Amino acid sequence: MNYNIAVIPGDGIGPEIITEAMKVLDQVGRKFGHTFTYTEVLMGGVSIDTTGEPLTKEALETAKASDSVLLGAVGGNVGHSNWYSLPPHLRPEAGLLAIRKGLGLFCNLRPAVLFEQLKQACPLKDEIIGDGFDFVVVRELTGGVYFGERKTTVENGIRKAVDTMPYDENEVKRIARWAFEVASKRKRRVCSVDKANVLDTSRLWRQVVKEVAMEYPEVTLTDMLVDNCAMQIVKDPTQFDVILTENMFGDILSDEASMVTGSIGMLASASLGESKLGLYEPSHGSAPDIAGKNIANPIATILSAAMMLRYSFDLTKEADSIENAVKEVLNLGLRTADIMSEGCTLIGTREMGDSIVGQI
Ligand code: NAD
Ligand code: IPM
Ligand code: MN
Repeated sequence: MNYNIAVIPGDGIGPEIITEAMKVLDQVGRKFGHTFTYTEVLMGGVSIDTTGEPLTKEALETAKASDSVLLGAVGGNVGHSNWYSLPPHLRPEAGLLAIRKGLGLFCNLRPAVLFEQLKQACPLKDEIIGDGFDFVVVRELTGGVYFGERKTTVENGIRKAVDTMPYDENEVKRIARWAFEVASKRKRRVCSVDKANVLDTSRLWRQVVKEVAMEYPEVTLTDMLVDNCAMQIVKDPTQFDVILTENMFGDILSDEASMVTGSIGMLASASLGESKLGLYEPSHGSAPDIAGKNIANPIATILSAAMMLRYSFDLTKEADSIENAVKEVLNLGLRTADIMSEGCTLIGTREMGDSIVGQI
């Protein structure tokens, strides 16, 4: 079978990690008898430089017409790039927000799994890690402060800026249902994270999540305030199964979650909506500090490609083959710099991709 994938390499390390993910997909295609046809789509800084916009209408249409979207990362070095002298809606990240919204991808899954082989790279003590942890952040992706009205003004000579954080009950309901569905196939625990001691949106969130929980009597719901959650992820990550949270809290908590797995270079993500068309990208950014040096870890992108096979194409054994190959390569002691530890062999981005291909 042929699958049409819109590929967005993006900026910084984006093209380097995307190349490795495509190599891996091609190997899966050879092994299992599928073809993956790629259409390159411009987004982010590279699109601004070429078209003047972070995501053109045509680019969005190409993404919509594909079976799935695979993304590297967008953005530059804030403060050192002329992309950031543009108004906010014309900066690289605006392209990312526009494609998420344009494709209706309200659910972002970010699985934080500590691979057995990476215990040494995990900054937490052995007694905290125990037998390891495996939780998933279910992040609301098309609402909240990212999409609320905003304004920057000067009033009486004083510079002022306002962001707003709107949520309605339907937005909360659909992401909550997703989290409960995910939990019902896992350890059946949802921890809903909010700031209900301060924010009205969080009080609405907490109430609606509680109502949705009634539909899932087999799943246990707990609530946690976001500041406490940030602390608990470091104190005892093994306590979590599904963390359900709104857009910005999920952004911040998932970077934190990635680090306890060893590196942000390990955290994959899937952005999903009502249809099978999803967007798959690593949780990290364009890492301008290491771009072009063949040192970025491509595993988060490669594992995101595996999520694409699983969620958009229902290719379970193909997805498993990628995940197993990653484990095998880690078993062999091969490491990019971000997950390097004593006794292991340091390799680059390309070599990591080749090694994973080799294992498939
Ligand atoms: P970042 O995630 O790009 O980098 C943070 C740190 O992690 C850096 O030290 C970087 O070198 C390291 N890192 C990131 N990915 C890595 C990898 N695969 N292997 C090894 N090390 C890795 O975050 P930032 O520096 O805050 O942001 C840079 C740009 O990326 C900004 O413009 C930001 O808006 C953008 N960004 C884009 C996305 C996306 O496209 N999905 C996500 C996050 C940030
Ligand atoms: C992410 C990124 C984006 C976000 C930025 C680049 C808009 O940090 O995907 O985690 O905040 O969603
Ligand atoms: Mn982020």
